Amino acid sequence: MPVYLDHAATTPMLPGARAAYVDALGVVGNPSSIHSQGQQAKRMLEESREVVAASVGAEPIEVIFTSGGTESINLGVKGLYWARQLPPRPVVLVPGGEHHATVDAVEWLVRHEGAEVVWLPVDALGRLHPAVLEAALERHGASVALVSVLWANNEVGTIQDVRALVAAASRFGVPVHVDAVAAYGYLPLEFDAVGAAVMSVSAHKIGGPVGIGALVLSRRSSVEPLIHGGNQQRVRSGTQDVAGAVAFAAAAAEVANDAISEDLSL
Ligand SMILES: Cc1ncc(COP(=O)(O)O)c(C=O)c1O
Repeated sequence: MPVYLDHAATTPMLPGARAAYVDALGVVGNPSSIHSQGQQAKRMLEESREVVAASVGAEPIEVIFTSGGTESINLGVKGLYWARQLPPRPVVLVPGGEHHATVDAVEWLVRHEGAEVVWLPVDALGRLHPAVLEAALERHGASVALVSVLWANNEVGTIQDVRALVAAASRFGVPVHVDAVAAYGYLPLEFDAVGAAVMSVSAHKIGGPVGIGALVLSRRSSVEPLIHGGNQQRVRSGTQDVAGAVAFAAAAAEVANDAISEDLSL
């Protein structure tokens, strides 16, 4: 019997999520349509949004469904950067050891948008100390567009003290994007209490399907959209994936209950 252990890469779908997915695939209707099928799809979508929001400690309006963690990170990082260019703020502060989605999005901003990235040193365990972040914020002052940090490292398991890092950035009025893809389901995320501007999560890391994730966008923050079109969600256009959202919510409901309740931060 094969034994699958690589849950850091992707997880098997939970039976409840798979059953919910299959059932939802049988429902026809675009949630933007005003007829009854559309409205049924919309109800399923919005109920799913509520469950996902509760699983990350956010309000439903703060959950923007995306195609997964990589899209969420691109929208969080590039979207925050662009939203903060009046006046120009070219500096992006990022600790070493981030996931490629963040590294490549930031390096793209450097190549194409004139951004300046400052890679912040981490300690032997991969932790960014709030004092290091504060020193960088003092040095670069008002030219910092954003800070991006990985809550839990998907390769070595380091957990950042996200609360302290967000508190440090907030003292300088700088928004923080948190890549919580690997932390989701293992740590209580409590987005609103932590105070980050944006946070990325992905369904396939918690027993949901590949192809759906969320950018959690604080009510107080804004990002420039990457995808333009029908304005189905605040900052993300495109017909919404109802079955994906239903399956995501089924997995989210299970993992939110299981997430370790003790604080494993530094
Ligand atoms: C920490 C981290 N961030 C981002 C991603 C990308 O997420 P997705 O596979 O949903 O695009 C992953 C997945 O490997 C990850 O582990």
